[in-house]
Amino acid sequence: MANVEKDPVSGTNTTGHEWDGIKELDTPLPKWWLTTFYACIIWSIGYWVVYPSWPTLNDYAKGVFGTTNRLEHAKDMAAVAQAREAWTSKFEGKDIEEVAQDSELMTYARAGGKAIFADNCQPCHGAAGSGNKNFPVLADDDWLWGGTLDALQTTITYGIRSTHDETRISDMPALVADETITPAEADQIADYVMMLGGQGGSDAGKTLFDDNCAVCHSEDGSGNQDLGAPRLNDGIWLYNAGKEGVLAQITKPQHGVMPAWVGRLSDTEIKQVAIYVHSLGGGQ
Ligand code: HEC
Ligand code: HEC
Repeated sequence: MANVEKDPVSGTNTTGHEWDGIKELDTPLPKWWLTTFYACIIWSIGYWVVYPSWPTLNDYAKGVFGTTNRLEHAKDMAAVAQAREAWTSKFEGKDIEEVAQDSELMTYARAGGKAIFADNCQPCHGAAGSGNKNFPVLADDDWLWGGTLDALQTTITYGIRSTHDETRISDMPALVADETITPAEADQIADYVMMLGGQGGSDAGKTLFDDNCAVCHSEDGSGNQDLGAPRLNDGIWLYNAGKEGVLAQITKPQHGVMPAWVGRLSDTEIKQVAIYVHSLGGGQ
């Protein structure tokens, strides 16, 4: 090359390029850098041979190990399923009361039940069963249909006013609409319900209450779990609170619907979530 010359300061040849008097030194790439570079190329060739790499016309090069992420994932999942199977088979042989006697199974059930609850129940019943308006709190001692393990298992399995044949069902009648009582009588009854709960009111409606409501809610307003009739004397309301709420329910009853979970959750999962609900604080 025509303009190649030795740089007097560094003693290195120049490349012969020159811009406005500035000349470029011909400095080679460092050895360590080049070595790493070639090593990477050799490594990648090895990698292509061993692992799946290039697409071919109809398929892809599988590599001599024949491994794929999908296969590894399937292997992991199989291991998980096997570990689970060991537990579920223990659940299947026992009814829920027997599970409750087994502290090891209980630990497993509470943890599993917690996850099942968060996925399936939380939208209606709130985090950790804290409830929402029209959807009962599951973490207190106020049960519509009962808080024993068996009662919970039945409620969760078949639901309440659900589409399942064995659902829990009972409807509060529309007593004003079907003219069993007048609006004025409903007002007196609502006052009496307030009195039962120690929230003022008056006892003028006692006879009306005993005649029309006590069959389901019992005379002292303590409710009836066989009928899912809520306790009315504890100041805990599923629907609207206070006298207005009581009047609204007498005039135009609301009926809560809880879906059946049989078919959607396995028998073991229902047991687990029942145990979890039972452990939330209100279990009987
Ligand atoms: C679509 C909303 C909804 C979902 C989802 C739901 N529930 Fe319910 N659940 C309700 C309603 C509404 C009631 C009250 C029914 C009534 O008025 O009797 C209820 C009642 C209950 C009761 C009876 C409470 C008592 O006081 O006796 C239990 C127990 C219960 N649910 C557990 C669960 C569990 C466990 C799950 C998840 C597997 C779940 N629920 C999912 C709406 C729901
Ligand atoms: C055939 C049984 C039955 C009779 C009779 C009945 N109820 Fe009910 N009541 C229920 C049921 C069941 C519920 C729960 C409604 C639901 O969730 O669908 C309920 C709910 C209520 C609620 C709502 C409670 C809450 O926590 O929000 C009030 C208030 C109530 N009833 C008052 C009355 C009064 C007052 C009478 C008499 C005038 C009466 N009920 C008659 C079965 C009955």
